Amino acid sequence: MSDTSSSRPFFSVNDLHVHFAARSRLFRETPPPVKAVNGLSLSIEPGRTFGLVGESGSGKSTVARAILQLVDIKAGTITLDGEDVTNVPSGKELAFRSRVQAVLQDPFSSLNQVHQTRTIVGDAITRHFGVKAGADRDNRVSALLDEVGMSPEFLDHYPYEMSGGQRQRISIARALAVEPDLIIADEATSALDVSIQSQVINVLKRVQAETGVAYLFIAHDLEVVKHMSDDVGVMYLGYLVEKGDAERIYDGPAHPYTEMLIASIPMPNPVVQAERRALRQTFGTQPGGGIAEPPSPSNLPKGCPFENRCPVAMDICREEMPEPTPGHHGGEVRCHLHTSGPELGGESVVHFIESQKLSSPAGSGSAV
Ligand SMILES: Nc1ncnc2c1ncn2[C@@H]1O[C@H](COP(=O)(O)OP(=O)(O)OP(=O)(O)O)[C@@H](O)[C@H]1O
Ligand code: SF4
Ligand SMILES: [Mg+2]
Repeated sequence: MSDTSSSRPFFSVNDLHVHFAARSRLFRETPPPVKAVNGLSLSIEPGRTFGLVGESGSGKSTVARAILQLVDIKAGTITLDGEDVTNVPSGKELAFRSRVQAVLQDPFSSLNQVHQTRTIVGDAITRHFGVKAGADRDNRVSALLDEVGMSPEFLDHYPYEMSGGQRQRISIARALAVEPDLIIADEATSALDVSIQSQVINVLKRVQAETGVAYLFIAHDLEVVKHMSDDVGVMYLGYLVEKGDAERIYDGPAHPYTEMLIASIPMPNPVVQAERRALRQTFGTQPGGGIAEPPSPSNLPKGCPFENRCPVAMDICREEMPEPTPGHHGGEVRCHLHTSGPELGGESVVHFIESQKLSSPAGSGSAV
């Protein structure tokens, strides 16, 4: 995806759709399904990080769970080095897990509380490499602890004896134990205090530099994702509305929703901060005041799902879902602004939104 790397993707998700059946209620019609992921495609190059951002409920974890084979997929394919791993048969699960590992938000529930670190991490080594419990295996666990910045004394520790940051490092060590090519990190640092969060992020970055592991790094904190990612994808109501080189997207987003998210990042310069806050206030402001709620994932509109919050929506936006088109950052954007009306042709949307804000009242829905 990025034009700065000559590497080719080794992992890709192609046109993924995941729907959840809504619970039916007695004597009522079966409600429509929750459309959690809608036609999402992304690819990851070896040793690089793809960051996935979006508001709560946008479908980020569902993408992770689909890759990890934890939810049923309605349509789409997942490939690893050209091999279809959409539905890994039970006999091949171990081989898949040796290449794709996960680090999740809550290490307390994902680590077995009755085992010491030597067993938690060591069992992964036994499962994947057949090394039995003992001195050799302990040495390998110690080396992994060293990798995540922990001393060998933690071999004897139980999860409940460790802090949140230490437990998350153990989760990372356990994932690294099988020498994976890809780690899915879903809100892996979100529950940690800011200073511990940056320590864990530094561990992830150092490990990547040393081992060449790739990450799918999922978080709702845009600054953390910016710090971590080479490429970034922005989700809104199950759609990937923009993806491409992280730095170029943060500098000049092509999608109004991405601009809205970025406008919410605190800026050190108070003048810039005030401008961004003013810009953010134009999103979703209805003519009578108040902020528009996003549509329900069980009842998505036929047009763009961001239409009722978009300050520059056009008539076509209510009628047709925009298809992905090339963006200036070398990636893609799903927005009619780039193909209809002003035809931004993939360029940054920021100046266009600002010019519209000056020439028409917020939320008038009459950008062109
Ligand atoms: N098992 C399920 N059954 C029904 N609906 C589900 C299920 N899991 C997720 N959903 C719905 O799918 C949508 C996407 O949820 P998901 O957890 O993937 O979002 P997310 O972006 O990870 O949110 P967050 O930032 O809060 O973690 C939401 O509307 C959620 O309510
Ligand atoms: S301009 Fe239209 S297509 Fe683009 S984000 Fe706004 S409503 Fe959606
Ligand atoms: Mg989630």
